[in-house]
Amino acid sequence: KQLKYHICMVLISGGEFLMGTDNPGIPPDGEGPQRLVHVDSFYMDIQEVTNRQFQSFVSSSGYVTEAEKFGDSFVYEGILSETVKSQITQAVAAAPWWLPVKGANWRHPEGPDSNITERLDHPVLHVSWADAVAYCSWANKRLPTEAEWEYACRAGLKDRLYPWGNKLTPKGQHYANLWQGDFPNHNSGEDGYVKTSPVMSFPANGFGLYDMVGNAWEWTSDWWTVHHTTDRQHNPKGPLSGTDKVKKGGSYMCHKSYCYRYRCAARSQNTPDSSASNLGFRCVSEEQQ
Ligand SMILES: *[C@@H]1O[C@H](CO)[C@@H](O)[C@H](O)[C@H]1NC(C)=O
Repeated sequence: KQLKYHICMVLISGGEFLMGTDNPGIPPDGEGPQRLVHVDSFYMDIQEVTNRQFQSFVSSSGYVTEAEKFGDSFVYEGILSETVKSQITQAVAAAPWWLPVKGANWRHPEGPDSNITERLDHPVLHVSWADAVAYCSWANKRLPTEAEWEYACRAGLKDRLYPWGNKLTPKGQHYANLWQGDFPNHNSGEDGYVKTSPVMSFPANGFGLYDMVGNAWEWTSDWWTVHHTTDRQHNPKGPLSGTDKVKKGGSYMCHKSYCYRYRCAARSQNTPDSSASNLGFRCVSEEQQ
């Protein structure tokens, strides 16, 4: 299925919103306390950066991603071929479904025997934070701050869980590419997908943004910290330094039992050199590009 659309951004008119939540889904993630935050206007990509877009960037710049330099990247074992799985000897102790796969990178999302030919309109994966920043700079854009991302996710709705409201599947309809079934053993694919989906396969939020939750996690520019005060903030940009970057939105692998992180207030973290089969990004800019 080929999507016909112009790569585009929408104006997110600045304003004040309630960031975070006082009813955290995952308390150790620092989703609260809820606080008033102002963000200035900006433009945001309506979709996650796709393989096709990333391919244009790489063809014109010769850019090599960190996963390509390291020679491996993390892939969820449920989507690996038996051949690739049989060659792996180590896993992540706390999350044994993540396997470091040699030769996995954005062109080969499940390792050397996979490719993106049929997935050019899916979000690019296996991009580190620096890779995401490099793409956005090439496009005269930048990564969103966590506050900008969350403001955009909420699309003017006050204190709701999801970009569209509080009900996960209004009228039985799926609004995001998430995990249905028993995590991590069986994704029933009830929403139509067991891996990533073409961008814009689910309804947009009130600001015209697609896949703000689900599909692929999205890098933000902020260093990770846990908030402690309810002080009103103005265009917060996160701490000046840190060890991890904030990612938002959850992915096609998120299920309430394990990763209730497909909510606007939810957040998680990775070291900036991390890459994985469920982590991508989108860009923002001060001007329409
Ligand atoms: C790419 O993957 C598809 C299966 O998704 C396969 O049919 C095709 O032969 C592969 N193409 C290349 C060039 O490896």
